[in-house]
Amino acid sequence: MKKSRIVIIGTGAVGSTTAYTLLLRNRMDELVLIDANADKAAGDALDMNHGMPYLGGAKVWAGTYEDCKTADIIIITAGAAQKPGESRIDLLKRNIAIFDSIIDQVLLQTRDAILLIASNPVDIMAYRSWKKSGLPTHRVIGSGTLLDSARFRYLIGQKLHIDPRSVHAHIIGEHGDSELPVWSLANVAGTELQLSEEDKEEIFTNTRDAAYQIIQAKGATYYAIALALDRICTAILDDEGAVLNVSTLLENYHGVSDAYLGIPCIIDRSGVRSTLELSLTDHEKALFTQSADKMKNILATLEN
Ligand code: LAC
Repeated sequence: MKKSRIVIIGTGAVGSTTAYTLLLRNRMDELVLIDANADKAAGDALDMNHGMPYLGGAKVWAGTYEDCKTADIIIITAGAAQKPGESRIDLLKRNIAIFDSIIDQVLLQTRDAILLIASNPVDIMAYRSWKKSGLPTHRVIGSGTLLDSARFRYLIGQKLHIDPRSVHAHIIGEHGDSELPVWSLANVAGTELQLSEEDKEEIFTNTRDAAYQIIQAKGATYYAIALALDRICTAILDDEGAVLNVSTLLENYHGVSDAYLGIPCIIDRSGVRSTLELSLTDHEKALFTQSADKMKNILATLEN
């Protein structure tokens, strides 16, 4: 039986933490680390392998693009990370060139894997990966607003003193400054949230700006995004049919098309099986359209 294989391209803070998370949770049979800095990838693999007597499970090694041939999932985290005060969009110019060469090298080895993009600005990088690769859209996935939705659920849970796993709430749109909270559908056990307008404002602001706060404090974010990427990989490899707010190509989603944005998607072994169109208020629809317009305007600059 074919062994499941995940390849991670980029073993910086996000890539190496994601690798370790997948390893601890024994998600796959084979884990391959690729980085432009081959010593870093080799050092990470060696460091993880030394823990195997206490863990067991996956085979881990520092590899090359040839190891993508039989990959089920290729996670791309490579690229510059935000500096304090820098927006994700500010990374665009630096990461485009890095990204284009990565996609070219991956495609020389395989057209059968699912590409899971985490490099920022993730909605733009995911769209570009899809466009450039020509792979079916269901197999080019951005981490999207899955992390934002987790932050949102955590902060709501903190305010209500409820386990965040029992809070159902969506952040959709850009993984970035134009993301929006779908307060109209947020609930605990189907009941309306008992939150004041001030509470809601505080919770959403802290959700949207979480990365800035963490980067200011410790230079980068990597634990929660690693758990979000692990969640997506599990839904794929276990053919779950889980609903996750990943970034996917919009096709007349509330009238928006031809951009990648975070929306609820059903994730299974095929990648994005389908999307779920949330019933949004007029205000939420307007914010979503604004977020989509922001992404499309940026994409238009890349075409020129
Ligand atoms: C963050 C990075 C992953 O939101 O964009 O932490």
